Formats: sequence, structure tokens, C-alpha cells
Amino acid sequence: MDYTQKMLQADALKGKTIVVTGGGSGLGKAMTTYFLELGANVVISSRNQEKIDLAAKELIEQTGGSVLAVPCDVRHYEQVEALVKKACDTYGSVDVLVNNAAGNFISPTERLSANAFDTIIDIVLKGTKNCTLAFGKHWIAQKQTQKVVLNIVTTYAWTGSAYVVPSATAKAGVLAMTRSLAVEWAKYGMRFNAIAPGPFPTKGAWDRLLPGNLKEQFDLAKKVPLKRVGAHQELANLAAYLVSDFSAYINGEVITIDGGEWLKGAGQFNLLEDIPEELWDMLEAMIRAKKGN
Ligand code: HXC
Ligand code: NAP
Repeated sequence: MDYTQKMLQADALKGKTIVVTGGGSGLGKAMTTYFLELGANVVISSRNQEKIDLAAKELIEQTGGSVLAVPCDVRHYEQVEALVKKACDTYGSVDVLVNNAAGNFISPTERLSANAFDTIIDIVLKGTKNCTLAFGKHWIAQKQTQKVVLNIVTTYAWTGSAYVVPSATAKAGVLAMTRSLAVEWAKYGMRFNAIAPGPFPTKGAWDRLLPGNLKEQFDLAKKVPLKRVGAHQELANLAAYLVSDFSAYINGEVITIDGGEWLKGAGQFNLLEDIPEELWDMLEAMIRAKKGN
């Protein structure tokens, strides 16, 4: 067994309908693939109709599952309401919403126009708010329970990060929304959780966060104590567990899957890892020599 293998039993999501925003590429597509393999129907959405139609065709061929591709810009509430309607008209009801759609790029903050900053906030924070509000209100109105919202954030939602300030600001808001609604809407039978991934190479993220030769210059695997980036299947395994009934008592949690990356940056003395093994004898002797001084 290893971390690239599939974790849950074959029918773990049988009978569930799951909406994945941004489900036509990257991590959204990886999660969608595994949800389908576990028996769920999946609605994928993004702004690009051609892209999601192609992804749906490929996923149906690959898994034999049922996929509905619905174009929807999460920044526009009326498009999200149309997504709710289309998903429910097709499958009867929706059980799980995965807020995965995002926009991001690196930039010194002083170079950003007000609109550039707003664009990221609108996709990440307002988009997540739009989907959460539209699906949440629908479930409450229909008196439907046992619903799950899974939000994809990042570890800089709580550490903050230079050069991706709009994204950090927005993801922090999404995390606050996750924890707040986990309490407020539990009475309606909804659970809210989040995943904070470390580096998982995708074209969408790498093109915007590590353009050109930055990929070679800043090898993100080196920042991770486990010295590797994430595999899409291990993120899909975690997501499948969190949207399944096996995690029924997990609510309001954010689960980090980053090989220890953010803690490595946080611990005051973690940089001592650069000290070569052979130096430790000398350092220990120097410290012991101070005894009684
Ligand atoms: C400065 C920029 C810019 C850049 C765009 N803008 N790119 N400013 N530097 N590199 C400005 C534009 O000039 C414009 O402002 C405003 O931003 C909106 O740009 P548009 O191109 O009109 O926006 P839009 O077509 O809506 O595209 C949104 C986008 C784009 C975010 C800019 O990159 C996109 O579609 N991204 C979706 C996918 C994505 O980002 N995936 C990565 C997720 S990774 P003005 O003032 O000129 O009008 C992620 C990882 C987190 O979140 C953690 C990783 C470890
Ligand atoms: P990605 O492939 O670029 O995914 C982003 C998706 O969001 C795309 O499918 C995109 O599709 C969609 N999207 C963007 N704007 C949208 C809008 N306005 N309305 C609807 N859909 C929109 O990148 P990814 O790496 O897989 O990222 C997926 C999630 O993981 C994001 O939440 C990201 O913040 C998070 N994350 C990723 C990493 C990583 O290392 N990859 C690390 C931490 C967190 P269209 O362009 O077709 O609309």
C-alpha cells in the first residue's frame, strides 16, 4: 500500500450527488474522478463550457459514472442559482458542495490595481459565499438534511503570505465562513469542513505561481519536511472521506495536507536543520561547558 492508492471502499459515495466548482481541471478534476469511482454523480462547473464538456466526456469514459457539466461563473449569484436548479432538475437533489474554484497569481501588492485585487476576492471569497448561500438556502427551504460543504483553502489562510495577498485575504475569509457556518447551520443538518493543501502541482496554479524558470529556482518540494510535493490521489482520498458519511462527526475542521510545510516555516529553530550532523558534537560540548556559569 502507498499514498497514491485509493483509500475508501468502492461504494462509499454511492447515491450521492456532488457539485465541484472548478471541477474541470487540476485538483477539482482529481477529486471529481475519485468521487465518480466511489459511485457519486458529479456536477462540474467553471466559466469555460468547452473545458468542462471535454472533462465530462473524458471522465464518463474513464469511470463509467454520471457527470453533468454546467457553465457557471461563481462571481455571479444568478448563475449560481441556475447551477443549483440544473443540478437538482437532473439528479433530484444535491448532497455535497465542494467550493474548489479559485483565482490567484503572484504579484507585489503595490503593483495590483483595485480591480486585480477585487478579481481574486470575487472568485475565491464571494464565489464561495455565493455557492454556499445558494445551496444552503435551498437545503434549508427544502428541509433537506445530511448535507456537506467542503471548502478548499490553503495554509496561508492563517499564516498569511506575501505576494499572494488577495488570495490569502480571501482564503482567510473562507476559513472563517467554514468555522462559523459549521456551528450556525448544524441545526439544519449541514457539516462544513476545509482542506488546506500544501504544494500539489497543477497547470492552473503552477502557471500563475511559478511562471517561467521560477519552477526550477523555487523547488517547492525542498520547503516540505517530507521533501516531496503532494500526489493528487492523496488529496482526493482526504476529500472523499470528508464528504462521505464516514466523517459524520467532523464539523468545522480544517485539515492540512502539506507534508509539514507550513510548520517548517513557523518553528523558530527549524532552520537548525541546515547544521551538518558532525557539528552537533562540537555544539553540544560548547553548551555543556557553560554549565554553572
Ligand atoms: C497583475 C493582473 C495579473 C497579473 C491579471 N491582472 N493578471 N495584475 N499581475 N499577473 C489584473 C488585470 O489587469 C485586471 O485588472 C484584473 O487583474 C482582472 O484580470 P482579468 O484577466 O480580466 O480577469 P479574469 O479573466 O477574470 O481572470 C482571473 C485571473 C486568471 C485570476 C486573473 O488568472 C484566472 O482566470 N485564474 C483562474 C485559475 C487560477 O488562478 N488557478 C490558480 C489557483 S491556485 P485591470 O485593473 O487591468 O482591469 C491557488 C493556489 C493557492 O489558489 C496555494 C498554492 C500553494
Ligand atoms: P486550477 O486547475 O486553476 O483550478 C481552479 C479552477 O477554478 C479552474 O477549474 C477554473 O476554471 C475555476 N475557476 C476560476 N475562476 C472561476 C470562476 N469565476 N467561476 C467558476 N470557476 C472558476 O488550480 P488548482 O491548483 O487545481 O486549484 C484548485 C483549488 O486548490 C483552489 O481552491 C486552490 O486555491 C487550491 N489550492 C491549490 C494548491 C496547489 O498546490 N495546487 C495549493 C493550495 C490550495 P475556469 O478557468 O474554466 O473557470
